[in-house]
Amino acid sequence: MIRPEDRLIVALDVDKIEDAVGLVRTMAPLGITHFKVGLNLFTRAGPAAVEAVHQAGGRVFLDLKFHDIPNTVAGAVQAASRMGVWMTNVHIPGGSAMMRAALSGRGKDLLLIGVTVLTSMAEKDLTELGVRHPVEAQVLSLAKLAQAAGLSGVVASAREAVAIRRVCGEGFLIVTPGIRPKDKAVDDQQRTGTPGEAIRAGADYLVVGRPILEAPDPAAVARRIIEECAELKVKDAT
Ligand code: C5P
Repeated sequence: MIRPEDRLIVALDVDKIEDAVGLVRTMAPLGITHFKVGLNLFTRAGPAAVEAVHQAGGRVFLDLKFHDIPNTVAGAVQAASRMGVWMTNVHIPGGSAMMRAALSGRGKDLLLIGVTVLTSMAEKDLTELGVRHPVEAQVLSLAKLAQAAGLSGVVASAREAVAIRRVCGEGFLIVTPGIRPKDKAVDDQQRTGTPGEAIRAGADYLVVGRPILEAPDPAAVARRIIEECAELKVKDAT
């Protein structure tokens, strides 16, 4: 059973290590332990960003979405393992051989998950790439491929979580970005869901960036998300 506080992964999509650490410290009193270091912060600040989050008491989802030849990805995952991160990811369309190589490079405690279809993409974007399936079918076929390769779970939108849970079963992690409170204005995310919708659909973890980062009171938004997760847990138990 995942604690509601642990379900939230706060995306540290900021430019400076100090700002990332500031966010970790703001979230710590709420019991939040999971933080995502992604391409922006990592490209600017490197492994020092991961180290700083660790020092501030957080666990890191290193979201670099590796997608390269198997040997290169194995090396990158090994480097992530040595940094002591909690979770990292690869793009599933890199293929089975790449995913198996990625697994060969990881330490036993590292969760390795696969990105299905970016939550910023809609059907027309897939069509443009020559993918003829509807989004959900594409996500499901990638999730099955990731599971067959031995990955611990996938990144997908809340909209596909029910189908992934049905097909891949319990114990296969579903991490959902594109989380938006109901009243949030539209941005580059296309396949969105509220925190409650994501959890009800079977998501294990919610990745939330801008709704928290751009809020006048980031801790208040994070608290509401955790409360929404906790309420659902109570309802499910009754
Ligand atoms: O600001 P927002 O809540 O949209 O942030 C979502 C975060 O999740 C971003 O850091 C983005 O890079 C990441 N992400 C995503 N879609 C994926 C995988 C990761 O939005 N499929």
